[in-house]
Amino acid sequence: MAPKTNGIGVQVEGTRICVVMVGLPARGKSYIAQKAQRYLKWLSIPAATFNVGNYRRHDSPSPSADFFDTNNPVGERKRRAAAEAAVQDMLRWFRAGGVVGILDATNSTKERRKWVIDRVRDEGVEVIFVESKCDDEALIMANIRDVKTTSPDYKGQDPEEAAQDFRNRIRNYEKVYKTINADGDEDDLTYLKIMNVGKQVIINRIQDYLQSRIVYYLMNLHIRPRSVWLSRHGESMLNLEGRIGGDADLSYRGDEYARKLPQLVLDSVGSDRPLTVWTSTLKRTINTARHLPPHYNQLQWKALDELDAGVCDGMTYQEISDMYPEDFQARDEDKYNYRYRGGESYRDVVIRLEPIIMELERSEDILIISHQAVIRCIYAYFMQKTQEESPWVPVPLHTLMKLTPRAYGTEVQTYKANIKAVSTWRGKGSTAKHEDPAPEGGV
Ligand code: ATP
Ligand code: F6P
Repeated sequence: MAPKTNGIGVQVEGTRICVVMVGLPARGKSYIAQKAQRYLKWLSIPAATFNVGNYRRHDSPSPSADFFDTNNPVGERKRRAAAEAAVQDMLRWFRAGGVVGILDATNSTKERRKWVIDRVRDEGVEVIFVESKCDDEALIMANIRDVKTTSPDYKGQDPEEAAQDFRNRIRNYEKVYKTINADGDEDDLTYLKIMNVGKQVIINRIQDYLQSRIVYYLMNLHIRPRSVWLSRHGESMLNLEGRIGGDADLSYRGDEYARKLPQLVLDSVGSDRPLTVWTSTLKRTINTARHLPPHYNQLQWKALDELDAGVCDGMTYQEISDMYPEDFQARDEDKYNYRYRGGESYRDVVIRLEPIIMELERSEDILIISHQAVIRCIYAYFMQKTQEESPWVPVPLHTLMKLTPRAYGTEVQTYKANIKAVSTWRGKGSTAKHEDPAPEGGV
């Protein structure tokens, strides 16, 4: 029997958490919510965001600022109904097995927070408030300009008028906004308060493992512009033979890639500002990095080593299929969860990459030189690839990829070195040594 991987690999049994966002408009709440959701889903933790604005838009697609004036009874009623609908859907989702539900709304008054707690705790779900507080006027204006004037609320409207209306909307919220525990009577709440994008954070009554993972992740987020570059090592001697794993030297062409990489990086970075380079501990990635300028800081991570193929290390896919036919088939059926005998699954790799992701979130420009399976897992985090898709993503050799995180997604650019290399991609069911992926797939 082929060995199976059980569980999601992260300690969450029995825990259900509602993350309640708090803060004035344009403080990055939706940004934080979607990042938290992406991170948790990447770790296989069922997570979903319930954005009250989307529920409100069903009924009031493009309201002006006075809709958000608490003295406007119609606006008040409709906003409460939208919050109620979002909470109801979230509770239904928890009952169906959800683990972390994120309620994305301003939740900017004590009364609203109390109401959420009452609704959610009744279902046995823990509540953690995440407040983003920001008084950096320039940043708030930039947020309005970059994401609010293009919001569906202002579809077809003049951007200047939209920005003015949004500022008025914020003023209406400011009239009633209370930061968490402003009066000292919310001290029993579990919360994380992020001030001016992490310049200062306050943590109160964080309880269990999952809550502390979420808090630690959110504390590490920043919004300074940056990119992450990903490359596989140059073609290796084992790649030429179609053998997996091992710790081989670069082939002649792989070495050529290593020599060309500095120029490829320079062209992509667009300046000679230094990058930090992370490699695995295997020869083929270290040698691929060896011609990079000496002022680039280099660090080797064991966590970036290739997926461990266990007893199959060093074999071709044909040899694996001959020697372990059941395993070969089981891997094709569920490649993400299949764990090589004595080795790892893609799920295992994701779990060991978590510190890498955490560090990446804290860092600025980084170049990672690693391996096919590892790069697929990192790519899946940034591009929200599902577990079904990610183990099959084509990541060709001799190609540099630049990922640039934006407000609501990641931009990808690829740079080909134009140095021939074998393909190490394998389609489902195939035992071919070097099979080219379908042209439309992947990177
Ligand atoms: P609304 O209440 O209107 O939905 P919001 O608080 O959800 O607003 P977002 O839509 O998330 O605001 O705003 C996105 C912008 O906020 C992005 O440009 C992002 O760079 C920026 N941002 C992200 N994190 C923070 C933060 N901690 N403080 C301020 N701005 C941030
Ligand atoms: O073939 C190159 C390689 O990096 C192997 O070392 C590794 O086992 C394999 O790719 C991972 O790809 P897949 O999961 O598609 O077998």
